[in-house]
Amino acid sequence: MDEHLTVGRVAELAGVTVRTLHHYDEIGLLTPSARTAAGHRAYSPADVRRLREVLGYRRLGFGLRQIADLVDDPATDPVAHLCRLRGLLTDQRDRAAALVAAIDRELHARAMGIATTPEEQLRVFGGRLYDTIGDAYPATRRTEPRIAARIWAALGDARTVLNVGAGTGSYEPVDRAVTAVEPSAVMRAQRPADAAPCVAAAAGDLPFADGSFDAAMAVSTVHHWPDPVAGLREMRRVARRVVVFTYDAAGTGWRERFWLTRDYLPEFAGLLVDWPPLGELTRAIGGRAEPVDVPWDCADGLFEAYWRRPEAYLDERVRRAVSVWTRVGPQAERRAVGMLREDLASGRWAQRNGDLLRRDTAELGLRLLVA
Ligand SMILES: C[S@@+](CC[C@H](N)C(=O)[O-])C[C@H]1O[C@@H](n2cnc3c(N)ncnc32)[C@H](O)[C@@H]1O
Repeated sequence: MDEHLTVGRVAELAGVTVRTLHHYDEIGLLTPSARTAAGHRAYSPADVRRLREVLGYRRLGFGLRQIADLVDDPATDPVAHLCRLRGLLTDQRDRAAALVAAIDRELHARAMGIATTPEEQLRVFGGRLYDTIGDAYPATRRTEPRIAARIWAALGDARTVLNVGAGTGSYEPVDRAVTAVEPSAVMRAQRPADAAPCVAAAAGDLPFADGSFDAAMAVSTVHHWPDPVAGLREMRRVARRVVVFTYDAAGTGWRERFWLTRDYLPEFAGLLVDWPPLGELTRAIGGRAEPVDVPWDCADGLFEAYWRRPEAYLDERVRRAVSVWTRVGPQAERRAVGMLREDLASGRWAQRNGDLLRRDTAELGLRLLVA
C-alpha cells in the first residue's frame, strides 16, 4: 500500500475534484486498484499513469467514452500513449499559433480598411499550419542547388523516390520517378503543373506497402510532424534508403551558432523543446548525420538562409515563408525585428558579426541524415 495515493491526494495533485474521480470509477474509466483499511479509494502508480492518460485526452477534448476506448487499447503501451498525446498537443499548439497569426492578419487588414473574404476568414479553422501560412511559401522558398546536389547524391542510384512533406516540390529530382506526399491542400495546390504526382497524406501513416520505393526523402519538414520518430519509421518501412534534411536540435548549439537566435530570437528555444534530438532521428532510420553548411547566398529562404544578409529578416515576405516566425508569435517577432533594425542602423550588428562577412558558408546546425 506504500506506493498508493489516496483519492484526496490524487485529486489535489491532478487539479480535479474527488467527485470527478468517483465518477471515473463508477463508469469504469479508472477503477483504483486498492482500498485503504477505512475503505477509501487508493491509487497505485499504474492507476495514476492511466489517470494521466485520461486527463491528457480530456484536455484535448475527447469524450469519456472515446477515452475509455483509447486507454483500454491493449496495443498501446504507456510510451505510445505519451507519444500520441505529445503529437496531438503539438498539433493543437500549432493550430493555435496559426489562428493567432490569422487573427493578427485580419486585425491588420481591418486597420488598413481591407475586407477579408469569407474563404480567408474560415480557412484557418479547417486547416493545418501550412494551410494558413502556405500561401506565402513560394515567395522565397525554392531549390538551393548546392543543398539539392547533396540530397540527390545521397539518393544514390534510387530510381523510385517518395518525397514526404513535399510542399511545392523543391528538391524533387527530375531524373527519377518521384511520388510526393503532402498533407496541406494549400501546398499541394501550389505545386507546378509538371511536378510529380502528389498524394494527400501525412508522414505518420504513409499509404504505401512495405518496400514500395527505392528511396524516401524528407526536406525541411520533420520538425512539423506530430511524431517525427514514427514518421521516419514509416519512411524506413516503405523505402530501402532514407534521406532527410533536418536540423540538429540537441543541446544549446542553436544559441552559439546563429546570431539571430542568440541575440534577437531566444524564443526559438521554446520550439526546440518539441524537436527530438538528432540521435533519436538517426536511430529511427538507422543512419548517419552529415553537416550541411549554408552558403552565404542560399537560394532557398530557409530560416538560416540569410545569416550573411541580415537586412533580409526585416522583410515581411522572408519571414512569412518560414514557420518559425509564426510559431514564436507576433510579440516575439515584432521585438526581434525591431531590435535587429536598430542594431543594423546603429552598426551594432556589424560590430558583433563583422567577421561573418569574410565567410562563404556557415555551420548552423543543418544536417543530412542518410540511411
Ligand atoms: C517547410 S515545408 C517544406 C516543404 C518542402 N519539403 C521543401 O523543402 O520546400 C514543410 C512541409 O511539411 C508539411 N507537413 C506538415 N506536417 C506534415 C506531416 N505530418 N507529414 C508530412 N508533411 C507534413 C507541410 O504541410 C509543409 O508542406
